[in-house]
Amino acid sequence: MKCFYFTKDEEGGTLSSRESKVSWVRSLSVASSSVDTRKSRSDLDSESKDFTESFEFYEFLTQRRANDLRVFSFSELKMATKGFSRGLMIGEGGFGCVYRGVVGAPCSDSNMEVAIKRLNRHGFQGHKEWINEVNFLGVVKHPNLVKLIGYCAEDDERGMQRLLVYELMRNKSLEDHLLARSAAPLSWTLRLKIAQDAARGLAYLHEEMDFQLIFRDFKPSNILLDEDFNAKLSDFGLARQGPAAGLTHVSTSVVGTVGYAAPEYVQTGRLTAKSDVWSFGVVLYELITGRRVLERNLPRAEQKLLEWVRPYVSDTKKFHFILDPRLEGHDCIKSAKRLASLANKCLSKNARSRPRMSEVVDTLENIITDAAAQAEAVSGTLKEAEHVNEEAANEEVDAKEEGREEVESGKPESNNQKWGFDFKEMVSFRNKSIGKIDWRNWTAGLVKTS
Ligand SMILES: Nc1ncnc2c1ncn2[C@@H]1O[C@H](COP(=O)(O)OP(=O)(O)OP(=O)(O)O)[C@@H](O)[C@H]1O
Ligand SMILES: [Mg+2]
Repeated sequence: MKCFYFTKDEEGGTLSSRESKVSWVRSLSVASSSVDTRKSRSDLDSESKDFTESFEFYEFLTQRRANDLRVFSFSELKMATKGFSRGLMIGEGGFGCVYRGVVGAPCSDSNMEVAIKRLNRHGFQGHKEWINEVNFLGVVKHPNLVKLIGYCAEDDERGMQRLLVYELMRNKSLEDHLLARSAAPLSWTLRLKIAQDAARGLAYLHEEMDFQLIFRDFKPSNILLDEDFNAKLSDFGLARQGPAAGLTHVSTSVVGTVGYAAPEYVQTGRLTAKSDVWSFGVVLYELITGRRVLERNLPRAEQKLLEWVRPYVSDTKKFHFILDPRLEGHDCIKSAKRLASLANKCLSKNARSRPRMSEVVDTLENIITDAAAQAEAVSGTLKEAEHVNEEAANEEVDAKEEGREEVESGKPESNNQKWGFDFKEMVSFRNKSIGKIDWRNWTAGLVKTS
């Protein structure tokens, strides 16, 4: 991860940035000792120590680790990436560079394409994240979590080599599509589906295993997309085991990415699964607006996404101002409002009031079902309009023929012909609207919404 590091002196002051990317790590023990000294007895009773880093938990994970995790040699991965060629580089994060590569498929003579992440060789933080990634991704299994194929841990004369080999996600990350201006815009339907996939991944980590995992770095660059745009979470470098049964939170260092971490976690270092729910709410607003959570290139009032959207969300008449302009014509305003209302719940100041991720999955299911029904109604209306158009064209031909007959027989032009012409004009005007996909104005009152 590219990180900002806070020291005690920097708390509340300006960030000292080692990198331009907005990840940060602050040691709670250094930065918020005042919080610790104010702990009451009940706080201590309800608090779980950071077991994730304990020897027992490491042992537990080692026993659980899938045996099919492959161990690659450094030379094998060097060859797979043509010597870590820049031409094969597909991304770069704080951990290091990510390359596309080809390795032999297991139990067969064929080859398979993979993504290979190579740790920058400086930094203890990176090494810790590498261990976390192998430990956690090695034991979790879910269609919405990226598959770790194997790893490499070798020490050569130049130092240690730490690499991770993942399934290749051909459409890279949500960040590459949503926030890179060059990419073709993601449709509304796809945005909803990606949100649902990601929510399922988090729900699995929080609620469906025999121990809870808190992801801690939920953001668009960690939501990867396969060739069919199925979304999978990646990067378990900062993941932590949740509190043990009966306890309310884990006390741990505050790590994550600026803008996505929940405020109570940043302030107290007390981590719960609801911190991920907050981050999920932030990403929902990024999906709605197509904007980053922090965007320094915008006017000051628009730089912080959550502050910028606030007045527009509470005024339904103004809501369309915050909708991603690239969604123009998607007729998604109603669905987007519902997504914003879900985001607001995830962004409740009181962590306990935020929904659980399984509840988020259910709500998204309803939003998706209703959006699909609305799309079907729109397509029905479209077909109807086409049908009316055809009929109008036929009417016009008939009217012309009648008119010709009347002219031929010396009678004046009938009203029928005039009517046929006006009606055709009206239909073609509507269809021009459809051509411009100006749904927002056109569908009101015409489309069934339930
Ligand atoms: N398995 C993969 N398949 C395809 N592309 C990938 C894969 N893993 C990562 N990438 C690409 O590499 C980029 C960098 O990923 P990486 O996880 O190293 O950093 P990041 O998530 O962008 O930033 P940070 O270091 O803050 O987490 C991703 O945004 C994505 O585009
Ligand atoms: Mg990442």
